[in-house]
Amino acid sequence: MASPRKTVLITGAAGYIGSHIALCCLLSGKYSVVTIDNFHNSFPTALERVTKIAQDALPAGASDEDKKALEIKCYRGDISIKSEIDQIFKDYEGKGGIWGVIHVAALKAVGESGEIPIKYYENNITATINLLDVMDKYKVYNLVYSSSATVYGAPPQCPIPESSPLQPESCYGRTKFMSELIIKDVCDSAPDKWRAISLRYFNPAGAHPSGQIGEDPRGRPGNLLPLLAQMAVGKFPEGLKIFGNDYDTPDGTCVRDYIHIMDLAEGHVLALAALPRDEIYAAQGQAAGFGSSGGKYKAYNLGKGKGMSVLNMVDAMQKASGFKYKTEIVGRRTGDVPELTADPALAEKELEFKAKRDLEAMCRDQWNWQSNNPKGYENQA
Ligand code: NAD
Ligand code: WQD
Repeated sequence: MASPRKTVLITGAAGYIGSHIALCCLLSGKYSVVTIDNFHNSFPTALERVTKIAQDALPAGASDEDKKALEIKCYRGDISIKSEIDQIFKDYEGKGGIWGVIHVAALKAVGESGEIPIKYYENNITATINLLDVMDKYKVYNLVYSSSATVYGAPPQCPIPESSPLQPESCYGRTKFMSELIIKDVCDSAPDKWRAISLRYFNPAGAHPSGQIGEDPRGRPGNLLPLLAQMAVGKFPEGLKIFGNDYDTPDGTCVRDYIHIMDLAEGHVLALAALPRDEIYAAQGQAAGFGSSGGKYKAYNLGKGKGMSVLNMVDAMQKASGFKYKTEIVGRRTGDVPELTADPALAEKELEFKAKRDLEAMCRDQWNWQSNNPKGYENQA
């Protein structure tokens, strides 16, 4: 029997978050996946492993057709070049077309974004406009967008509801905010066509429990969890510099809302399912942090709603890995805010989203990935 799967284009599916989203789409049984990635910060091996995990999860006796439906068609290309996106939609016209897009690909380093802003605007904004334009050309109007809690900047209150003011403090954050605005304006321009959901991620961490896919940034990780994981396999022997212990938080270190990557990825499958539901857009109002002009656009926080300090995370990773971390308190990092935690109520109510995996599972899975792949994907293909 022909597969009932809808084709979803995931930009940047070889990356950390994209690979887990691709896996959840395949495991849902509802979607097949095509991607475009320039491997700026990722490796093709990740895509092969996603397919392998999904195929291993098929029931015994699954047909070759069922297995084939789990292969990810990958275009090596750059989404800041419009013709490279166009080619994909053109190729799929004769194959039932692309049903929807999850736009994940972006540059994401806060510090770097201030040094090379033009590159960030080109990669994150021009690329988003290119994508929307090509989607319009091929009449593909379903979009889920990878946004970030960074759009809230330093929020006036925690936990943060979606209606909190959007005041990003970095160039990177502004590219996420502007992309949301552009997508919203496009939705407002044609409410009978476009439907888009932005998902504002808090701090994704962990890996698929197989230990086959995980976060493998090129160069020294800027984020806490991959840094701790790499330290536990012997990298960066100088130890962890903790950026400040004089914040107004329970132990003085910054508090963040760490969410297991599998919970986050599953949220995208829920968002794809929610896109056609008119009622979720009716209550938009100020819910995205900016007003609506009646388009079908909605933003949701994806977080656990629970804060963990830097010291909590060091302790949890120490338990998971058995590695005794060397730490040193240094000055505050520019741009850090004391606390960022999500109010996940809207996603829970309207998407039936629930971040169910706990801190122990997150650190165990992070360590399982790192210890199985001490050098990441490179040299392991
Ligand atoms: P990542 O770097 O691991 O993945 C991004 C992927 O996109 C990579 O495979 C990269 O090669 C690809 N890519 C980048 N620019 C491209 C281009 N011009 N053309 C084609 N491919 C391109 O990053 P990630 O952590 O998986 O983040 C994914 C998304 O989630 C980004 O949009 C990011 O802004 C957002 N986000 C990430 C976090 C986080 O903490 N990781 C938090 C909030 C939001
Ligand atoms: C977590 C905590 C640091 C490293 C970033 C982006 C955000 C989003 C998620 C994309 C902070 C502390 C870290 C170290 C430390 N990404 N830390 N020593 O800053 O909450 O969020 O990733 O959208 O936009 O800003 O995450 O993992 O960098 O830091 O003490 O060597 O760990 O100060 O309190 P952050 P992080």
